[in-house]
Amino acid sequence: MYFYYNIKNMKDKNFYIENYGCQMNISDSDIITSILLKNGFTQSKNLDEANIILLNACSIREKAELTLKKRLEQLKFYKKNKKIWIGITGCFSKQIKKIFLEKKIVDFFVSPDSYREIHNFINYSIIGKKYFFYDSIKKKNETYADINIIKQKNKKITTFLSITRGCDNMCTFCIVPFTRGRERSTDPNSIIKECERLYQNGYKEIILLGQNVDSYLWIYNKKNINQNQKNVVDFSNLLDLLAKKNPMMRIRFSTSNPHDMSNKVLEVISKHKNICKHIHLPVQSGSNKILKLMNRKYTREKYLFLVKQIKNIIPECSISHDIISGFCNENEEDHQDTINLMKEIKYNYGYMFSYSPRPGTYAYRKLKDNVPKHIKKKRLQEIIDLQRKHSFYRMQEHLGKVEEVLIEGESKKNNQYWYGRNTQNLIVVFPKKHLNIGDLVHVKIKNTTSATLIGDICI
Ligand code: SAH
Ligand code: F3S
Repeated sequence: MYFYYNIKNMKDKNFYIENYGCQMNISDSDIITSILLKNGFTQSKNLDEANIILLNACSIREKAELTLKKRLEQLKFYKKNKKIWIGITGCFSKQIKKIFLEKKIVDFFVSPDSYREIHNFINYSIIGKKYFFYDSIKKKNETYADINIIKQKNKKITTFLSITRGCDNMCTFCIVPFTRGRERSTDPNSIIKECERLYQNGYKEIILLGQNVDSYLWIYNKKNINQNQKNVVDFSNLLDLLAKKNPMMRIRFSTSNPHDMSNKVLEVISKHKNICKHIHLPVQSGSNKILKLMNRKYTREKYLFLVKQIKNIIPECSISHDIISGFCNENEEDHQDTINLMKEIKYNYGYMFSYSPRPGTYAYRKLKDNVPKHIKKKRLQEIIDLQRKHSFYRMQEHLGKVEEVLIEGESKKNNQYWYGRNTQNLIVVFPKKHLNIGDLVHVKIKNTTSATLIGDICI
């Protein structure tokens, strides 16, 4: 009785959500928002108007966690002047939880597997229940398959859809298996339905998300497991089904783990025009010694062979990477292995990081973070500089070509230009003319930088 009385008396439960980190978090923000809106909360785009502030956190690298800490310190002053509730969702470490509970800045923590109940947790906090550990109520099979996601009206035409959650790979540097739990796949029927619904709502491109999309697996009849039967849907089957059912929807996906990527997947990508020709294939290091220490389950040779297969089966495919520099025990020779692997592949683009130990991971517990900071920095800079060269080189390959581009919005640098992406996930800008956001157009590439293709519409 007391509980309902208080909740009803709280005039409006107005939340503001701030997002940190990866695409999965952006997609999860939509899930959280949808659950709250369906349960009587309102959303504010303005921090000052809200009485519930949610930070959808990332703790993948030390830097991300520092950003979060700084933000929380800022909010501490905010909290002094106004009655607000602060909650952390997403990937947060035990340390963050400990520090900010002690400081009494954060009122509640909700882990990625507990969002279905987030409205209740907030309500408990509002009535002053000191029950902080909502992250321990994890639903290990949660995929949010039946949540009809309410997308914000922001004229976007591309959106994320998660097809797997969690990760089982246990790379020794990575905190994700600890913050997001075991891997599980979403029912393909739900993915297909959601994809159709999104298309009907004006979306023209969908990005399928998973820490390791290639290990997507759905088994219809668990008693009768047989890889050759149709009761098993793997990633190649899922892509094939989606591409056929929604021929007008562009499909992208991320991330592919080199260990699990199969030729079957490559063949499906090559077969369908609406599956984009880009693979994000994090390598992390070019040294077999380091790959082993990282518990990545492939070798440099296997990775290079896979890249060859990709280029054989899908010649126009772009490839991007993630690389970590300065992992435990990395010496100059290992670093040169990475540099040489990059030279061999000449990636289209990549995301490059210097290693930061994450509490709880194997590397944090068992390996020494023994590469001095200035060396990590120097190696990282070499990797970044080399990638810039390769990106520029790869961009030149597009000069003079006519490419299909989906218009996503106005160019940030010039409001007379549109920007969009070609099938290889490269940004293309071109004069607007009479076209609109969401149009799929042909653009002739006339110029490039290392990050952008510049062209003109072909009429
Ligand atoms: N499965 C996802 C991984 C998400 S983490 C994927 O393959 O994309 C994204 C990237 O962050 C990783 O690929 C890795 O390059 C980087 N990363 C993860 N943990 C890190 C750490 N402790 N230090 C530095 N970079 C890290
Ligand atoms: Fe992390 Fe490796 Fe999984 S990088 S998310 S443990 S594939």
